[in-house]
Amino acid sequence: MQQLFDLPIDPTIRSAELREAIARHDRLYYVEARSEISDREYDALLAELQQIELANPELVTADSPTQRVGGLPIGAFRTVTHSAPMLSLANTYSREEVQDFDRRVREGLGIENPHYVCELKYDGVAMSLTYTDGILALAATRGDGQSGDDVTANVRTIQSVPLRLLSTNIRSATIRGEVYMLAETFLEINRRAEQAGEKLYANPRNLTAGTLKQKDSKAVAKRELQFVAYWLDTNDEPLTAHSLNLELLAAMGFAIGKAVRTCPSIDDAMNFITEWDEKRFDLPFQIDGIVVKVDALRHQSELGAVARSPRWAMAYKFEAKKAQTVLTDITLQVGRTGVVTPVAELTPILLAGSTISRATLHNEDFVQEKDLRIGDTVEIEKGGDVIPKVSSVVMSERLESSVPWNMPHVCPCPLKSKLHHPDGEVNWYCDDAGCPWQILRRLQHFSSRDAMDIEGLGEKAIEQFVEAQLLTSIADIYRLPERMDEILALERWAPKSFEKLVGGINASRAQPFARVLFALGIRFVGEGVAKILARAFPSVDELTAASIEQLTNVHEIGASIASSVRTFFDDADNRELVQALRTSGVQFISADNTVASQEFANKTFVLTGELVAMTRREAEENIEARGGKISGSVSKRTSLVVAGQNAGSKLNKAQELGVPVLTEEEFRNLLSNS
Ligand code: IVH
Repeated sequence: MQQLFDLPIDPTIRSAELREAIARHDRLYYVEARSEISDREYDALLAELQQIELANPELVTADSPTQRVGGLPIGAFRTVTHSAPMLSLANTYSREEVQDFDRRVREGLGIENPHYVCELKYDGVAMSLTYTDGILALAATRGDGQSGDDVTANVRTIQSVPLRLLSTNIRSATIRGEVYMLAETFLEINRRAEQAGEKLYANPRNLTAGTLKQKDSKAVAKRELQFVAYWLDTNDEPLTAHSLNLELLAAMGFAIGKAVRTCPSIDDAMNFITEWDEKRFDLPFQIDGIVVKVDALRHQSELGAVARSPRWAMAYKFEAKKAQTVLTDITLQVGRTGVVTPVAELTPILLAGSTISRATLHNEDFVQEKDLRIGDTVEIEKGGDVIPKVSSVVMSERLESSVPWNMPHVCPCPLKSKLHHPDGEVNWYCDDAGCPWQILRRLQHFSSRDAMDIEGLGEKAIEQFVEAQLLTSIADIYRLPERMDEILALERWAPKSFEKLVGGINASRAQPFARVLFALGIRFVGEGVAKILARAFPSVDELTAASIEQLTNVHEIGASIASSVRTFFDDADNRELVQALRTSGVQFISADNTVASQEFANKTFVLTGELVAMTRREAEENIEARGGKISGSVSKRTSLVVAGQNAGSKLNKAQELGVPVLTEEEFRNLLSNS
């Protein structure tokens, strides 16, 4: 044995052996999801190869596993022309349209029963791979379909992309597929981003697309992207059917779709769709639909393509707005007005572009009507308003041990005050004025964007200040500038952030009375009502003195608002708060804007798209201050549409109806000239 060790190892032979062994273990692990050796053994193989290559740079090959994690940062991505255009698919959300597709296919081919192949539609980024002599030579994004970006260095880092094809007859080929990210990887990356206080990514597809555009492929390698192949073109072997191509792709070393089914009729394809509409929630990645393809390649070429989509395939898309997850707990949240609301704590799940981990359950009745129980698997949905809702329990998953949920009758705050349930109302309230949770919410509301908009005093800062007893009431906010030393002693505070806070507090003194009124958090006094009240009672003295009758005399002010306003100002603590804020310089008198120009009087504005130089709210306030009205939809009566970036249907409608449209810049000029 000793002899063997003494024999010089030929680095050329040994490096080739190592490359092959590592490629094989990579494929087992990343494509077939199994492994034959430990991580440690694997690392040893890789280290040995790296060492040989370091000593013999001429032995480094393009398909060496050491080349996955690229070297130098990429400057700009080179544009490359696709050998054949990268098509996309016609989409539908309707099953009837899938039937129509089948009818068109049968008519087009003049046959009764074309075979279809159904696949999952992975929600990621399309990628075209070119292999030359069995080696990965190019990876390109779709771009405009004709040419895309050369992202080879980044795609090399994807472990499920073979750098060298497994031995089949195929040496040169174009392979297309989807680069995607596992949901768990996405959630983990966002968890880390959140901890670091960084911006969160919207969804795995965006993060995948962003990752592929990274200049540093070392960073790409850390994102653990995946690749699934769904299309093959080669001259090295006669190709006859898509289903066989998929088998060939697997033999070449690619991961193919997790579920592929050859369907002898469209009814089978429909069943596949129905099946996966349910099962998609159990997948570790996101799919956005099912792709139905005609199997025989001669049928495919007979059918051809229209514009950018083939006539031989169609994508049935699922409504992205539903998902299932586990209700891990029902907690109580105390609002600023003392309303105590049950909240669903959910196992985090991705739904239409965001991660959902909580959802309001509104009130006790809501929970009871749906019979929601801790431990239940529930269906969650996003409506048009994008707020997630718990829509139902998946009864088939209910645990035997589950018990009905009952609303606790004490406040979840440390004071544990008894809650009360006014007659005829569904809500439970905590009436304890000292409830720290209510105080926290009131402070957060007061400072929030739509209320006093105090820069530097966000929700987290408020929590810190409440905990440090620097804030025990709203009035304390205006005393914060005097407490520099104590604030700077807190975690995450520095002179700069303190300065910003002081600036934000000072600026808030100029907020108009209507905003102040809204910021006070009087029950039933939302932004709209606050504006009405501030117009009818232009000073807080007049409002404090107003009787229920005077209040209800105001158009749009009903009995409950009136009584809530009275209750608020009848409370000595609240009057004291108003006094303290007034002394601090907060506005309690409406600025006389009757003299301000009313040049937008009788004009209705619609704002659409994203504004850059001002917030939506600032734009609205500017319009209202000049007597204009805001509307949410465009009609013939609309006077002007202000279209920011990415404006969509409202802009189109305005153009259709001939309503004048201003860009944001033109709108700002209009304001500054008025
Ligand atoms: S076939 C010409 N199969 O969905 C055929 N596409 O517009 C091209 N996709 O561009 C696509 N999973 O990015 C096909 N199993 C699958 C797919 C799939 C995801 C993507 C692909 C394509 C887009 C449809």
